[in-house]
Amino acid sequence: MPRAIISPSVLASDFGQLSAECKRMIKGGAEWLHMDVMDGHFVPNISMGAPILSCVYKGVPGIFMDCHMMVAQPEKWVNDIADAGGSLYCFHIEATSDAISLINAIHARNMKAGVAISPDTPSTAITDEIGAAADMLLVMTVYPGRGGQKFIEWCVPKVAELRARFPEKDIEVDGGVGPKTIDICADAGSNVIVAGTAIFNAPNPEDVITSLKATVNTAQARFSK
Ligand code: DX5
Ligand code: ZN
Repeated sequence: MPRAIISPSVLASDFGQLSAECKRMIKGGAEWLHMDVMDGHFVPNISMGAPILSCVYKGVPGIFMDCHMMVAQPEKWVNDIADAGGSLYCFHIEATSDAISLINAIHARNMKAGVAISPDTPSTAITDEIGAAADMLLVMTVYPGRGGQKFIEWCVPKVAELRARFPEKDIEVDGGVGPKTIDICADAGSNVIVAGTAIFNAPNPEDVITSLKATVNTAQARFSK
């Protein structure tokens, strides 16, 4: 049974205190940290790249960096992100023509490989072969590019479709996820939960992390019956 993993998106954190913000989340119960890398091409914004991840890796012992690569040429950054200490390299299927080779290159650098789909991409773009080769599948529930957007509910059936085909895979949701939208995500079968604004802006992030996790674990226990 896939376990609940909470991956706070640091896009909503104070970038001036990035390492401290990551430590605060780990202390609050977060297993992963979601690092949104944007290149100004795949998405209009620029956020951060390998040099910053490398500093965070050095400053936060044992951190699991879930790197969400919103970049136009995902092949280009595999080595840099691996050298920076990335644990998982999640690329957008819209940005590559050879997902399998890219997954192999990511694995060759000892990172987990994730495959993301934007709202307009159907879940069938993740073929059985690609899904089997990947370690994680990411269903975007907003258009990638910035934090704090409204959750797009019509993306959720894609989570259920992928969960039906890949019962044991990590399936992540990202965008507008928080206490108000977690039920529908958990019921559809996602187990890796990205939340930026909902966690970082909460008066008590630990409470939000605990409650998101409990909702996912309860739903997963139902699936395994
Ligand atoms: C959007 C990013 C998300 C974003 C999530 O492009 O991929 O990870 O930071 O932020 P919230 O949870 O605020 O929607
Ligand atoms: Zn993201």
